[in-house]
Amino acid sequence: MTPACLADQREAARRRLPRMLFDYIDGGSYAERTLAANVADFAAVRLRQRVLKDVSALSLSTTIFGQTLSMPVALAPVGLAGLYARRGEVQAAKAAQAAGLPFSLSTMGVASAAEVARAVTPPWYQLYMIRDRGFMSELLARVREVGCPVLLLTVDLPVPGARYRDVRNGMTDDSLGARTRQALDGLAHPAWLWDVRLRGGSWALGNLAGAGGGLTRLTQFWGWIGRQFDPSMTWKDIAWVRDRWPGPLVVKGVLDSEDARAARAVGVDGLVVSNHGGRQLDSTPSAIRALPAVVDAVGADLTVLMDGGVRSGLDVLKALSLGAKACLIGRAWAWALGGGGEAGVVQMLARLRQELRMAMSLTGCVDVNEAGPHLLSHI
Ligand SMILES: Cc1cc2nc3c(=O)[nH]c(=O)nc-3n(C[C@H](O)[C@H](O)[C@H](O)COP(=O)(O)O)c2cc1C
Repeated sequence: MTPACLADQREAARRRLPRMLFDYIDGGSYAERTLAANVADFAAVRLRQRVLKDVSALSLSTTIFGQTLSMPVALAPVGLAGLYARRGEVQAAKAAQAAGLPFSLSTMGVASAAEVARAVTPPWYQLYMIRDRGFMSELLARVREVGCPVLLLTVDLPVPGARYRDVRNGMTDDSLGARTRQALDGLAHPAWLWDVRLRGGSWALGNLAGAGGGLTRLTQFWGWIGRQFDPSMTWKDIAWVRDRWPGPLVVKGVLDSEDARAARAVGVDGLVVSNHGGRQLDSTPSAIRALPAVVDAVGADLTVLMDGGVRSGLDVLKALSLGAKACLIGRAWAWALGGGGEAGVVQMLARLRQELRMAMSLTGCVDVNEAGPHLLSHI
């Protein structure tokens, strides 16, 4: 059955993946209020239908950080994607490249930047502030050498938010009971077991090779995060990264216009307005509601991107209308990958493009770069 929409691909992922992994992708922190608001607030934005505008030729491409995107969308960094499909980061990066879009590789990816760059053009690279600055410097040098053009520095995870689904599924637990349940969960999903567990190669997090310890088990991975993510980070540390990264530097995880001004002051090139997809502080404003104030504050000087709740091409046009230069998509590609591998991500991106074209046609917007508040309805 051809998936008609993203919800169908999410359902395919739910069937194919062990429950623990599906819930890890799908869930948010605490009561999941921010996760729900990200989606609900997009639904509440209304587009202004216009007709008879000659929409026979549409231009969807845009340029950010010196790179031309075939539409204003990039794949967000998503950790552990190599567990959703065999070498999942590589599969998703291939789909992104075929669609003319950037792929962002998470530091928490299974495939390393070098492995991805052997298959496609080097990805954007996402990093957290790591306590061991020596290791961080080395990692920055390594991804520069690989040729990663853009660095996303994620700042909204000084400490991890509690995700109840992961606790209930024993994802953070190394007891015999939890491991037995995980094994049974895997056995109940044989297509996944064959693809990822048996043919997927090592589960070690490729970018963290050399970080001390193999990090092949999930509990080792959470332990490393607990020890190495740096809650003492301030804007001074962003300046430290700025000194070591000559290319475009993008701070990911800003919701507040005062923070946006501080980011501008330390010389970053862009921002992602984001609440980590509702996976960190619960009860924040949704990303789409936070976006306009940030654009007002710094949009003239910095490239402002957004993510959180983008589920269709219609959402992309709404975000552009509210001032974003482009959107990142997280769960959309993770579900598509988990349900259908590279082909699933190809399908999802083609549909997103079709939805964006349709939304542009019916709002009379012939060029994505001209999207703005005039496309919105307030009736
Ligand atoms: C399963 C999963 C893993 C994620 N891992 C990371 C990560 O390693 N680094 C990061 O900066 N953001 C990570 N994020 C957040 C995404 O980059 C993005 O901000 C978020 O998914 C956007 O919301 P959306 O899923 O509604 O599109 C992750 C999100 C999900 C769903």
